[in-house]
Amino acid sequence: MADDNSQTKTSVSTMWGGRFAGGPDALMEAINASISFDKRLYAQDIAGSKAHAAMLVACDIIAAKDGEEIQRGLDQIRDEIEAGNFNFKAALEDIHMNVESRLAELIGEAAGRLHTARSRNDQVATDFKLWVRDTLDGIDGALQSFQGVMIDLAKHHAATVMPGFTHLQTAQPVTFGHHMLAYVEMIGRDRGRFADCRARLNECPLGSAALAGTSFPIDRQMTSQALGFARPTANSLDGVSDRDFALEFLSAASIAAMHLSRLAEEIVIWTSSQFDFIRLSDGFSTGSSIMPQKRNPDAAELVRAKIGRIVGAMNALLMVMKGLPLAYGKDMQEDKEPVFDAAQSLELCIAAMTGMMDQVEVNGDTMAAAAGTGYATATDLADWLVRELGLPFRNAHHVTGALVKLAENKGLGLEALSLTEMQGVESGITEAVFSVLGVENSVASRRSFGGTAPENVMAAAKLAAERFL
Ligand code: ARG
Repeated sequence: MADDNSQTKTSVSTMWGGRFAGGPDALMEAINASISFDKRLYAQDIAGSKAHAAMLVACDIIAAKDGEEIQRGLDQIRDEIEAGNFNFKAALEDIHMNVESRLAELIGEAAGRLHTARSRNDQVATDFKLWVRDTLDGIDGALQSFQGVMIDLAKHHAATVMPGFTHLQTAQPVTFGHHMLAYVEMIGRDRGRFADCRARLNECPLGSAALAGTSFPIDRQMTSQALGFARPTANSLDGVSDRDFALEFLSAASIAAMHLSRLAEEIVIWTSSQFDFIRLSDGFSTGSSIMPQKRNPDAAELVRAKIGRIVGAMNALLMVMKGLPLAYGKDMQEDKEPVFDAAQSLELCIAAMTGMMDQVEVNGDTMAAAAGTGYATATDLADWLVRELGLPFRNAHHVTGALVKLAENKGLGLEALSLTEMQGVESGITEAVFSVLGVENSVASRRSFGGTAPENVMAAAKLAAERFL
């Protein structure tokens, strides 16, 4: 191998090879090239180049005629890529040089003027921000649709009683609608985090050039505006080396994926034959190749799992960026794959959850029956003792505990104890106590703001529709 290096050499880059006699080793090309994944940035790269070229013309840095050629060539390249007629080459490293090299083939010398007052460093930072921004907008829309499905479910099931849990032990009855609206709130905050990320991200790095700015009289306001940014980045070193916009996206994505994983886990629990609270549609269930009775919630399990790669992506990029000296380092090329993968995973999770919940069948009778077990109305009884008999809450808690024990020993629910039996524990108890022992009465009484009473849930669902849809 040492004797014949020429076999593993490639040709000198026409883009940056001026000072090189020999081309890169094949392994150099293998580790260096990013085109296999950064070709996804083609639309943003072309949009950025078009804005840059228009600005160069407006600032008299290149001739109008060259500018027109560049615009025409870039449009054609976009069409070629979209038609699947573009030959991406690893020897040209990345999307930026693939586009520019093709531009040279198409329009000749004028192509070489496009890279005036620009570097791939500000170019890639701009492209990547534009890509993350587009992705954020798509995710926001998807989360909104998901909220729409959950709000609809809440309206239909504002009065459908189910057991509420703490420690996954039956705690107090709630309504299924109330439970759905809890997720609507979580997703609302997720959308808020993505919106914050978008607002902070929305500064344009283009014109930072390699790291120090440029001596050409460019107009950064113009390119920033053309690309829909709020303003140009204030510091050229920061402009080319900031990747916290991507990290912020990944952290918001991790939190959103965590929320989805909690609902996914509830779906897994609720679809088990032991719970049987809900049934997924055929479209979102899978069978077993050996056990014919099975309806498995694979989609929910995968949503529960995919957070792993999303948080993994965040950790990967944090490790890449940790300790990097200013400004650009090639390390930063490792920013894209984790972000692409996390975005795709999150989009899939949101879509699958939306589909699953849109078609879910709710077994109200099973849930209501389950809500009536496990002494779920014990708190209602304690509250009644406080309200009607003036007992301090701690005493009422104690009395209720004794009544639960009595019922448990007899294998009965609280509502099945006789008045005499109850009076044996607390003489002041009257017939009226039975009004709070049913699960329906229990949920109906939870009228405090944010509580689970059906009328609250209906009002909250309407309000959520106004806030989020
Ligand atoms: N492909 C590179 C990246 O993704 C583009 C920037 C390269 N800049 C450089 N100075 N080599 O980061």
